[in-house]
Amino acid sequence: MEITTTDMGLAARVQSLTKTYGEGASVVRALDDVSVGIRRGQFTAIMGPSGSGKSTLMHIMAGLDAPTGGRAWIGDTEITGLGDHQLTLLRRRRVGFVFQAFNLVPTLDVRANILLPFDLDGRRPTTSERARIDGLIDTLGLGARLGHRPHQLSGGQQQRVAIARALATAPDLVFADEPTGNLDSRTGREVLALLATASREHGQSIAMVTHDPIAASHADRVLFLADGRIDADKPRQTPEQISAHMLSAEVAS
Ligand SMILES: Nc1ncnc2c1ncn2[C@@H]1O[C@H](COP(=O)(O)OP(=O)(O)OP(=O)(O)O)[C@@H](O)[C@H]1O
Ligand SMILES: [Mg+2]
Repeated sequence: MEITTTDMGLAARVQSLTKTYGEGASVVRALDDVSVGIRRGQFTAIMGPSGSGKSTLMHIMAGLDAPTGGRAWIGDTEITGLGDHQLTLLRRRRVGFVFQAFNLVPTLDVRANILLPFDLDGRRPTTSERARIDGLIDTLGLGARLGHRPHQLSGGQQQRVAIARALATAPDLVFADEPTGNLDSRTGREVLALLATASREHGQSIAMVTHDPIAASHADRVLFLADGRIDADKPRQTPEQISAHMLSAEVAS
């Protein structure tokens, strides 16, 4: 019998993943034979230089993009080869995604953007879900902006709406692409605490891309990507250890 992703204690995994863009002389190998799992209930940081494949890896793991080669699973469901409809349902019910470019719906106000995952699933939040969403709105300081549309918000405010939306349904698996990139340090710390709490207290599995060694030091595990490959896979690191690794990787390349 095949050992499943759940047996391995993983919430998602990929095996021998490759992703290329373009053809011939202009081919870009964004991912080059990547095999990795996101551990259940853990907070994982993904680091690496610009262009190293971080967003591509997260998009494929979340079922938002298809690989050129290799396989991907969310829980025990293999998503490579799954039909569009099944994939959409699985993603909607299990996965939260904070995009590097936020992807808010411009015509909806903040409240409707946050509640979008429920609308798409054709249901309303339960009383306890409402309480949790109110808590997120409060923690993220969005209470005074609920009736505003994305273009009326600052970059950091839009980022916080994207985070609230990704966490609104309390998905098993949360991917966050530089969720603290546009935030001041206090708000950034609150977002990190929110993600750490989601994994520690609610057993959610979190994967977060960041360029910030301090943000990554909040994670249980740090994956380093370089040129489309996993360059290092380390347990919790101090900001100093992370900075030292980043420097040595730059020197090596
Ligand atoms: N749609 C696309 N078409 C062509 N090339 C692409 C496309 N998307 C990504 N790439 C290339 O794939 C490589 C990996 O991109 P990716 O966005 O995953 O990097 P990243 O590590 O997230 O970088 P950053 O830190 O700048 O966000 C880059 O060389 C990029 O130019
Ligand atoms: Mg990116």
